[in-house]
Amino acid sequence: MSLSRRPHRPEGMILVTGASGTVGRPLVELLVSAGLKVRAVARNPSALPRSVEVVDRPVLEGVTGLFVNPRAVGDDIDGLLAEGKGVLKRVVVLSAVNVDDDLDMQPSRWRGDRNTEVERAVTASGLDWVALRPTTFAANAFGLWAEQIQHGDTVRGSYAEATWSPIHELDLAEVALHAFLDDGLLGTRPVLTGPESLTQREMVSAIGDAMGRELTYLEMAPEVARAALVGRGFPAGFAAGLLSLQARSVGVPALITNEVRRALGRPALTFARWASDNAYVFGRAA
Ligand SMILES: NC(=O)c1ccc[n+]([C@@H]2O[C@H](COP(=O)([O-])OP(=O)(O)OC[C@H]3O[C@@H](n4cnc5c(N)ncnc54)[C@H](OP(=O)(O)O)[C@@H]3O)[C@@H](O)[C@H]2O)c1
Repeated sequence: MSLSRRPHRPEGMILVTGASGTVGRPLVELLVSAGLKVRAVARNPSALPRSVEVVDRPVLEGVTGLFVNPRAVGDDIDGLLAEGKGVLKRVVVLSAVNVDDDLDMQPSRWRGDRNTEVERAVTASGLDWVALRPTTFAANAFGLWAEQIQHGDTVRGSYAEATWSPIHELDLAEVALHAFLDDGLLGTRPVLTGPESLTQREMVSAIGDAMGRELTYLEMAPEVARAALVGRGFPAGFAAGLLSLQARSVGVPALITNEVRRALGRPALTFARWASDNAYVFGRAA
């Protein structure tokens, strides 16, 4: 049960940008299940519910609610918000916990994400808004470790004792749904985390537990880990920034907030639950 007592029923359609993304996909499903009309912006429409209208760029006609994924919207945010003046009743923006940090402390900028600017544009738009500020997504484990786990029981990676409070994308999607269906979060920037601080070694071990396998995390020297990330196509600045964040977190418990519980009336889902939901992705390659 939600703790908020200010239910709101959107009158028009909800436009979801980044609908094929980590949060967008489950959000589309939740919005449809809640009986709302949804228009999804996706370059590849497969895996989206059939009841959803799919477009390849944002179309605001008939739309009153907008979900903004900064990676999907990028520099187009100002034009989109200007077009939405007098039309949009609510904008929910996916932001990040580190948007107030120095720009060099936001490694995802090297991948083109403009979370700071996009959040700022939304909150300064004059429209009703909610800015969700998650910590690291549990789903990052796919990119970091899935390939290795598909091929063996040893995972080589950086800083075994670096800590995260990874958040399940279902929690993020559910809080985003709540932001559309309730006025309680309007004008706020909740920092959304998982329920526990885990080291990278513990996260890999939890994935092994979910699969009935014993996985070993083998720590690489930082310069080797950095070269491995770059070799896999990540920008050098991103690799350096990520490793620097990890180095600073060793021995420091990751931030944990109560915001998921406050919004949803239940605890945030554990990483063990995420690993169990996604164990099939890590299964051995044929
Ligand atoms: N990952 C994290 O730990 C984390 C934590 C906090 C905040 N964030 C922020 O959350 C946002 C989403 O991150 P994510 O890692 O979860 O990504 P994602 O949502 O899984 O993927 C990005 C989405 O944007 C779409 N997209 C990418 N480039 C596009 C382009 N040029 N034009 C149109 N659509 C495009 C993708 O569509 P296709 O499927 O067509 O490629 C996909 O739907 C980012 O701004 C990120 O900085 C991430």
